[in-house]
Amino acid sequence: MTAVGPGVSIEPGSVRIFDTTLRDGEQAPGAGLTAAEKLEVARQLVRLKVDVIEAGFPAASPGDFEAVRRIAEETRGVAVAALARCKDGDPQRAVEAIRGAESPHLHVFIATSDIHLKHKLRIGRDEALRQAVRWVTYGRQELGAGAEIEFSAEDASRTDVEYLLDIYEAVVAAGASTVNIPDTVGYAIPAEFGRLVERVVARVGRAATVSVHCHNDLGLATANTLAAVQAGARQVEVTINGLGERAGNASLEEVVMALRTRPTQFPELGSRIQTEQITAASRLVSYLTGFTVQPNKAIVGGNAFAHESGIHQDGVIKNPLTYEIMTPQSVGLSGSQLTIGKLSGRKGLQGKLHELGYELEGDALDAVYRQAIALADLKKEVTDADLLAIVERRAGDVPASIQLEGWSVTSSHGGKGTGTVSISVGGEVHATEATGNGPVNALYSAVDEVLQPTLGWHPVLTEYEIKAVSAGEDAQGQVLVRCRRSSDEGPGALVVSGHGLSTNIIEASLEAYLVAVNKLHGAEINGIDPAFASRRSAEELP
Ligand code: KIV
Ligand code: ZN
Repeated sequence: MTAVGPGVSIEPGSVRIFDTTLRDGEQAPGAGLTAAEKLEVARQLVRLKVDVIEAGFPAASPGDFEAVRRIAEETRGVAVAALARCKDGDPQRAVEAIRGAESPHLHVFIATSDIHLKHKLRIGRDEALRQAVRWVTYGRQELGAGAEIEFSAEDASRTDVEYLLDIYEAVVAAGASTVNIPDTVGYAIPAEFGRLVERVVARVGRAATVSVHCHNDLGLATANTLAAVQAGARQVEVTINGLGERAGNASLEEVVMALRTRPTQFPELGSRIQTEQITAASRLVSYLTGFTVQPNKAIVGGNAFAHESGIHQDGVIKNPLTYEIMTPQSVGLSGSQLTIGKLSGRKGLQGKLHELGYELEGDALDAVYRQAIALADLKKEVTDADLLAIVERRAGDVPASIQLEGWSVTSSHGGKGTGTVSISVGGEVHATEATGNGPVNALYSAVDEVLQPTLGWHPVLTEYEIKAVSAGEDAQGQVLVRCRRSSDEGPGALVVSGHGLSTNIIEASLEAYLVAVNKLHGAEINGIDPAFASRRSAEELP
């Protein structure tokens, strides 16, 4: 076994899975998570058995600092990483945030390509190298011999190779135990990237772990990551669902399942990932960030294991090997759809949830049980999808100081809708009526009319999506909204998501709107948005 910091070990020859969903993934515009939501995702990443959770960028905001600190203190069996620029103040905040981790992992970076040095940092190559060495040395001194100190050369794939090798050699001499090669703008092509990795491994691979971090701008993030592994990289930086800035990052599930499905291409290079937890992780991240997974997404898309054509169906029935290179069960898709009825007990529900990748007990199990039984009164059949939707809704809970007390709406063919809402804001109930183009628009306008005079802003809807959770006329509707405050405009505006779930789609729409309103309100009353990790200026984002 090889130590990954003091608390965690990886098998010899295995690839270390460094998950950056909570840092790079969360930088996707509109994917902002509260500290509580980040913690929920971190717990799922522990169940998934990633080796490293990159929990955030502590210097970016008080909210991100707090989220990283809590994840460091509250997770075990995993290394917790924090990102920092090579800039006075950043590494100190990062170290402070991860000190409580079982295995702290400091990740410092500086851009090294001439394009970035000249136009962004406005410093020369020598100065960048000096800063890199300075902050790696600091990290090693502060965290001691057992900690992981990682150095990333931002935009490495567009950096002069001789300079890149020199800077890696210098940081390793200063105490870096991992050197990361980011393809920051997704520019690399697999064979070319593999050759770059080989050169880095040849120069520093004996003294440090070589890592890669690939973006997906040309759709090559997974291919580049796998080429890097074949060339000797032993850490891969990935995100759930490939979430991340622009076209995203290499997707954890694709990289892990490629390693697992094609062992002869990656001899003795597995990971310790519990692949049966992949679907639960994907759904949770999608739910909390509001980033829907495309149906044809590899591994976790809704159609990834669906066989539509008759020839394929016939083949799969005769032998699944004909068209399935991995089983749905291996990524956590439950084979059975039979679930809860009115007479089901808690134990049965707990077992079913376990099959679906969730371990619930006590109050959390009771709450899901009550909602599932209530749903069984309204619906003929409570399916896996219904149950997952209920569990996920609990994960997205936000403190609600603004609550919906009641509503009614009338709407008819060709006419406008008229809606009435009563809402309590800090305990005081306000009621109003408004008209709109339809029932949802009318009710949302009524909510706006209550909030504008009481809060000084109203939510501005930037996205509205509705889908049926399962098949059938009695299906639950799940609504996703994204909103910002009317008083908060421009590119840096905080955008939050909200979900609603009900067999009544108007109710689900209102619930989603109010969840978003409470997130925006929470961010406002807590000062500089401390609950939201993703609120950073453009200059601060790597
Ligand atoms: O894409 C990038 O270069 C990064 C680094 C900070 C690793 O995210
Ligand atoms: Zn990145």
